[in-house]
Amino acid sequence: MTWTRTDLLGIEGLEPGEITELFDTAANMKEISSREIKKVPVLRGKTVINIFFESSTRTRISFEIAEKRLSADSVNFSASGSSLSKGESLIDTARNLEAMSPDIVVVRHSCPGVPHMLANRLDCPVINAGDGAHEHPTQALLDAFTIRERMGRLEGVCVGIFGDVAHSRVARSDMLALSKMGARVIIGGPPTLMPLEAHSLGVEVVGRLEEMLPEVDVLIMLRLQLERQKQALIPSAREYAVMYGLNPARLKLAREGVIVMHPGPINRGVEISPEVADGPCSLILDQVANGVAVRMALLYLIAGAAAKARAGEGAPRIWREGDAATTPRAARKRRREEERGG
Ligand code: CP
Repeated sequence: MTWTRTDLLGIEGLEPGEITELFDTAANMKEISSREIKKVPVLRGKTVINIFFESSTRTRISFEIAEKRLSADSVNFSASGSSLSKGESLIDTARNLEAMSPDIVVVRHSCPGVPHMLANRLDCPVINAGDGAHEHPTQALLDAFTIRERMGRLEGVCVGIFGDVAHSRVARSDMLALSKMGARVIIGGPPTLMPLEAHSLGVEVVGRLEEMLPEVDVLIMLRLQLERQKQALIPSAREYAVMYGLNPARLKLAREGVIVMHPGPINRGVEISPEVADGPCSLILDQVANGVAVRMALLYLIAGAAAKARAGEGAPRIWREGDAATTPRAARKRRREEERGG
């Protein structure tokens, strides 16, 4: 195992070799989910706290299942019903959870940067399960893993990402992950739902689905993120479906064998019609299934790297003899500063 990373805060900063190691590990993890007894003891005795300050179905349950299949003890924390409603701050909440000695913290929050802040303050590995409109790294990893599994490669595959790109953390992480792995990426959507800096993201940009469809091997449709839109950016969901939605008629413009994906949750009949979402081109539920394997691989690799860091192995990047930074937290902070060039 060459993986040395003890947090996963974003795709930015991940090396292609790390992504490949994670995918190869996930491919091995998949088999565990098909066994009669879906459990291996690799994280026995480890505690993972899933802190979700935002709603989630897929990510939270996928992490919990991944943790349980690795025999970790999972604890789920959601903001509603917690002492946050009594005025306790986020960092105090996190430090109190840390005092109970978790081995890994998984966090989702509506504010970009919260996982980074926790990683700098807490003495255990932190995994970003989605921070505002910034990043959703495990979704991008499972998306890229699903494409690699179906196509046999990522290099040279043309992937279109269409819809509410401006508000989508999935789009941002997908663009980063797929570009790093050598895919050709095209993004598109209505002008009001495209980021202002779209043309400087290093990917191709189109306005209409009809322009993208003949080019792509894989099409990732994005959900309209109405909860993140601060003003009305489209006339109506119905009009969006008519002008920009993926339906059987539009799908005919795509290459034979095109794959359709969606991170979920789907707005059925808005960005994607039920016929396409449930049709033969759709890999939407394969994405969900692969999410468990990818998160199992990630938890396994991060727990292994954290154990090595504690034991002083893999020292060159995170700890040097004579450093004052001898705790894992201080060592991680130093490593991040070095990675940022600070
Ligand atoms: N794809 C995704 O993040 O779904 P959830 O919001 O249900 O976790």
